[in-house]
Amino acid sequence: MPLYHTLGKIPPKRHTQFRKPNGDLYYEQLFGTVGFDGMSTNSYHEQRPTQVKEIKKQYSVAPKIAKENNIQSYKLKGFQVSPEKDFLESRKIVLTNSDCHIVLSAPQNKTTEYFYKNTDSDEMIFIHKGSGKLRTIYGNIDFKYGDYLIIPRGIIYKMDFDTEDNRHFIVESRRPIYTPKRYRNWFGQLLEHSPFCERDIRRPYELETNNESGEFVIKVKKKDEIIEMVYASHPFDVVGYDGYNYPYAFSIHDFEPITGRIHQPPPVHQTFETDAFVICSFVPRLYDYHPDSIPAPYNHSNIDSDEVLYYVDGDFMSRNDVEPGNISLHPAGIPHGPHPGATERSIGKTETKELAVMVDTFKPLMVTEEAMKIADETYFQSWLDK
Ligand SMILES: [Fe+2]
Repeated sequence: MPLYHTLGKIPPKRHTQFRKPNGDLYYEQLFGTVGFDGMSTNSYHEQRPTQVKEIKKQYSVAPKIAKENNIQSYKLKGFQVSPEKDFLESRKIVLTNSDCHIVLSAPQNKTTEYFYKNTDSDEMIFIHKGSGKLRTIYGNIDFKYGDYLIIPRGIIYKMDFDTEDNRHFIVESRRPIYTPKRYRNWFGQLLEHSPFCERDIRRPYELETNNESGEFVIKVKKKDEIIEMVYASHPFDVVGYDGYNYPYAFSIHDFEPITGRIHQPPPVHQTFETDAFVICSFVPRLYDYHPDSIPAPYNHSNIDSDEVLYYVDGDFMSRNDVEPGNISLHPAGIPHGPHPGATERSIGKTETKELAVMVDTFKPLMVTEEAMKIADETYFQSWLDK
């Protein structure tokens, strides 16, 4: 996040002696991204952050592919994914390519003993149901319905939930997730035409500093495997940090929609960008106000990208029979558009209450076995006249 942030205590000059009350040195760590060219954070630890005690289990969590080369449109009934106790085990990869995993998750356990670190991917966790606290090495962030949590790769975290009823839509991205460059000026400040501004970005506010020694399990994700590593010091032992690389939250309810006289294209809904896909927010908004406007989208052929829509809430004007928690996959190579009757139905409507998250990937997505368990296999025929 191109916003400077600091929590806790830090010395006035980086890479200089910074001492504890007893005279010992704190342990400095520079956590950088994209080599030394990306965003970085400089933190100060009670103990050395390098004290690996034991490397335990290592096991694959790679998705099992059902359809590698897919041109069929699918509807996935996301709420049919069964809840599972553990927050990592509950993650089911439904669509995937070499750039990202698209995941549904319904964790029940209110907290976990272990810590987690994804070294492969930045994570975007959209909170559809439930609330709680994201606890990280760089401080905590409260979350609730409608929040996007962006957790850059390598940040150690755990999630505490208020209840057992949680539903998440997650994208694990091998490419860094940023706010769109075209929303920012050359200093990084969000411009007036951006649908959100810095006030909407919620940064960590509560630093947990533990100086405990013992055995602390961090489940580390690397190359689609989980490796259980035991550290000799508590991972949350930072007394202070500053920099640009930290987790943050942004609520979809704070996205200000851009509307027009005629139908606006998907880029007006863009919320995040990567080199490999975009994430867009469709939020309640007034419809197009040209006297002859057609609020429903036109048929379109997204020849260069697979289009994934995750339906959150409200009425989805262009789709028949879509429920919250559903995913539609419209693959590159074939056109899609409003369902029969939807175009006509939309004329004269003045507003929509729809709430949805869209992920458009530039490389085709593979459909996994987990997806096939919740797939509506007849969806691709849903544009036929009945
Ligand atoms: Fe579309």
